[in-house]
Amino acid sequence: MPEENDQLSVALKQVLNHQPSHSDHKLFAEDTTVQLALLIKEMGLYPYFIPISGQIGPRIIIDGKDTINLGSNNYMGLANHPEMIKAGCDAMRKYGTGCTGSRFLNGTLDIHNELEIKLAKFFQKEAALCFTTGMQTNLGVISGITRQGDHIISDEKNHASIIDGCRLAHADTRIYRHNNMDDLEKVLAGLPPQGNRWIISDSIFSMEGNVAQIPRIVELAERHKAHVIIDDAHGIGHFGKHGEGICGHLGLMDKIDILVGTFSKSFASIGGFCAAGRDIIQHLQHHARSLMFSASMPPAMAATANKALDIFYQDDEGRKRVLQNASFLRKGIESLGFRTVPQQIPTPIIPIIIGDVMKLAYFSKGLLENGVYTNPVIPPASSEAMIRMSVMATHRQKDLEDALIVLKKEGRKQGLIK
Ligand SMILES: Cc1ncc(COP(=O)(O)O)c(C=O)c1O
Repeated sequence: MPEENDQLSVALKQVLNHQPSHSDHKLFAEDTTVQLALLIKEMGLYPYFIPISGQIGPRIIIDGKDTINLGSNNYMGLANHPEMIKAGCDAMRKYGTGCTGSRFLNGTLDIHNELEIKLAKFFQKEAALCFTTGMQTNLGVISGITRQGDHIISDEKNHASIIDGCRLAHADTRIYRHNNMDDLEKVLAGLPPQGNRWIISDSIFSMEGNVAQIPRIVELAERHKAHVIIDDAHGIGHFGKHGEGICGHLGLMDKIDILVGTFSKSFASIGGFCAAGRDIIQHLQHHARSLMFSASMPPAMAATANKALDIFYQDDEGRKRVLQNASFLRKGIESLGFRTVPQQIPTPIIPIIIGDVMKLAYFSKGLLENGVYTNPVIPPASSEAMIRMSVMATHRQKDLEDALIVLKKEGRKQGLIK
């Protein structure tokens, strides 16, 4: 294995130091990402676009093999819940397959409106607005709510959809160091007095799984007259009394001006939403371009998101299980001696820091060959090369125990643990 690592290391260096020649395709001659991907593919180590044949549950079928799934955002395990499947099928029968138009013009169904009323109530806000994806929600909310002369203050590790939303906005964007409240305060203190101020942060950072210091963000926002947008994509469903998410869990929902969420994780559907005061929602209905100029959520997705909310209200047991499973896996990882990320509030996302891209490639391949599916991630998606694992309410303890045996074996093989 070390020999193979050395070979890959040399090849990677060649790719990274590659000077484009005249024979290279002119458009992409400078780009090393695809070259790197092709090289890793050639070596049989490419870990992306792996097809799953069948339902996304705690165990999945990959390449015909039963595999433990530690690489999904289906936290509450609803993606194959019979009531969810029924709700989706019923809606498709009643409304058809798609809306063929945007919410604004010709793609609003009664079930979109019902879902928004329900979301507003669930998050104790005046109103809510559904988009077709979480990505489009951040693009539309951030660019739609801010104007030239406004200020966006964004955590450096926010999700790509927030980064792109800031890029689309006409406001000026300032970045503060990751979860660093002294730096946030410094940025706020240095802003000119004119213009609205919008602090924006993920609630749970999607790769490392650590939680933003929302109580401090809210406090600083009050002191510096700023508004707060929190993207709780990874907290809704399994945190809070009924699944209202991290802001509900912290008792701070009323301090958040705009709550953003996605239906692609615990809701096990597709779509995104924001919940806020009525004036903000009315403004976004007429300024969020990703809402106005893109077709609305298909009926089956609106119906399943709606059903997930009903299940969240009742499923205290599921919430308990997802956090218990997270705690079990995290303890196992720590006791094996893997490097992970400290979390003040433990979340269902558990990373193993690898640091070295080659080791990561071999480690994730070894895990998969031994029946454990995880998500390998590299910078800039994460701060270091790492394995991102996540648990579901529907994992049995045996699944996690079996996964830990494989993690131990492959971790030793790669010299990650003793
Ligand atoms: C924090 C955060 N926001 C937004 C999104 C985008 O959500 P969607 O998959 O619905 O586009 C994601 C998805 O990975 C996310 O992690």
